[in-house]
Amino acid sequence: MNSLQKQHLILIGFMGTGKSTVARQLSRQLELPFFEMDEMIVQEQGMEISNIFQEKGEAYFRDLETALLKKLLQEGKGILSCGGGIILRDENIQAMKKHSTVILLTAKPETILKRVQHNQSRPVLNGKKNIDDITKLMKEREERYHMTADILISTDGKSLSQICEEIADMITK
Ligand code: S3P
Repeated sequence: MNSLQKQHLILIGFMGTGKSTVARQLSRQLELPFFEMDEMIVQEQGMEISNIFQEKGEAYFRDLETALLKKLLQEGKGILSCGGGIILRDENIQAMKKHSTVILLTAKPETILKRVQHNQSRPVLNGKKNIDDITKLMKEREERYHMTADILISTDGKSLSQICEEIADMITK
């Protein structure tokens, strides 16, 4: 069975690896519905992610994230772009592995820093927008990203169309 015959395609990876952009483009190419989990949480809560973290706490956000993931996995086939912290909970990893093909996007800390530097919407990176802290957080999460993924795509130096072509090639094999 190739990956497209499985129920969902899920994009995971560290903040700033381009999950949403790639997922949106793939959804056009493959003509599948696209779900951006962070955007859905913001809509549902009527609050920005940074405000949810600040006013309700990270655990509250992680509960919303897990509940939404489980709900989306029960629905029809689609392409899901997850927040970078989706791999922090074992139950999320198990649910993703069971119901979908998981694509991990990676990028060097230098690339990540360039992409997130002027963005204030990522509370996890508050006060950590430097190579050392990004490298440290990436290392802490690395094993969980890798144990979840079926497919690994490095994005450094590649265009959006190159990345999507690589993914399309791998999932149709
Ligand atoms: C987070 C990543 C964010 C968002 C939240 C927490 C994380 O999503 O879910 O700020 O812990 O890595 P992106 O990866 O889309 O930035």
